[in-house]
Amino acid sequence: MDWANLAFGYIPTDYNVRCTFKDGKWGEIEVSSSEIINMHIAASSLHYGQEIFEGLKAFRGADGKIRVFRLEENAARIQESARGILMEPIPTELFAEMVKKVVKLNERFVPPYGSGASLYIRPLEIGMSPRIGVKPASEYLFIIMVSPVGPYFKEGFKPTNICIMREYDRVAPCGTGRWKVGGNYAASLTAGEHAHSLGYSAVLYLDPKEKKYIDECGPANFIAIKNGKYITPASDSILPSITNKSLQQIAKDMGLEVEARHIPVEELAEIDEAAAVGTAAVASPVAEIHDLDTNHKYIVSKDGQPGPVVTALYHKLRGIQMGEEADIHGWNTIID
Ligand code: PLP
Ligand code: COI
Repeated sequence: MDWANLAFGYIPTDYNVRCTFKDGKWGEIEVSSSEIINMHIAASSLHYGQEIFEGLKAFRGADGKIRVFRLEENAARIQESARGILMEPIPTELFAEMVKKVVKLNERFVPPYGSGASLYIRPLEIGMSPRIGVKPASEYLFIIMVSPVGPYFKEGFKPTNICIMREYDRVAPCGTGRWKVGGNYAASLTAGEHAHSLGYSAVLYLDPKEKKYIDECGPANFIAIKNGKYITPASDSILPSITNKSLQQIAKDMGLEVEARHIPVEELAEIDEAAAVGTAAVASPVAEIHDLDTNHKYIVSKDGQPGPVVTALYHKLRGIQMGEEADIHGWNTIID
């Protein structure tokens, strides 16, 4: 494996783990070496999109140990997603046991320390019961698969350009944006491909109700540094990012003030640094934000380099994940 040059893509591994909710209870954890599932042609996930997922990572540390970052937070979020679209919430203990098991079973795919790569862990839950009427399933399958990955944006930790396009929304004002529902990503494909075709790494979505405020940045939250303050949108239509939550804590630990509030588009003219933050994106710095409707270009990085605060936040987060920095908030689960 060419660990240092991995893309963010699917690479088969040895095993996945599965668990079925049936007759009102979760069954035994199954270990599978098959990449295939057998399902009913009328399954509620296939017809009506009863699908939710998560994304978290395992890292090989400086000390050789494997650490999984904030798995309880991902367990809590998939429970929220399940409640959001009437699926069966996965108990935290079951989620944790399955994450530990699938990482241990695929230990040889955890990229070496220093390679910059990690093992991406992808839990997903799908409705399995046949449904032709629009109703929730009663049977669910929960799967965790893994894949070694490199950076989400191929540029790595280099500033990229993003764009605002008012003709697209990924979610509705009182819709499913706060949950990690597969349909949100289907709804973002046209906008994402359009932005890529114009040379942008992601779309910076505006709030879907008024189109006045920043919402989120493709598959990541948006953060900015303004006069030494960490600012990030408060919105009901964005996914509450665990990376953002962690970076906010790191920022506070570094003595920065943190503000989660509405950020009007025009305020982009006043920011000193910006980044797209998420498990896959980590903290990807932003160079310029082009508003394609007004033709305005917000230049965030004048020299094309990441700014000092985003750089410090990024290194601190990576340091904690790799076991180079003290895990003072108890975010890592060590796999042994
Ligand atoms: N926003 C969206 C739409 C996402 O898909 C993700 C990725 O999970 C995030 C934000 C970042 O969330 P997290 O930091 O928990 O990975
Ligand atoms: C993640 O950051 O884990 C995500 O889920 C983003 C993904 C859609 C690639």
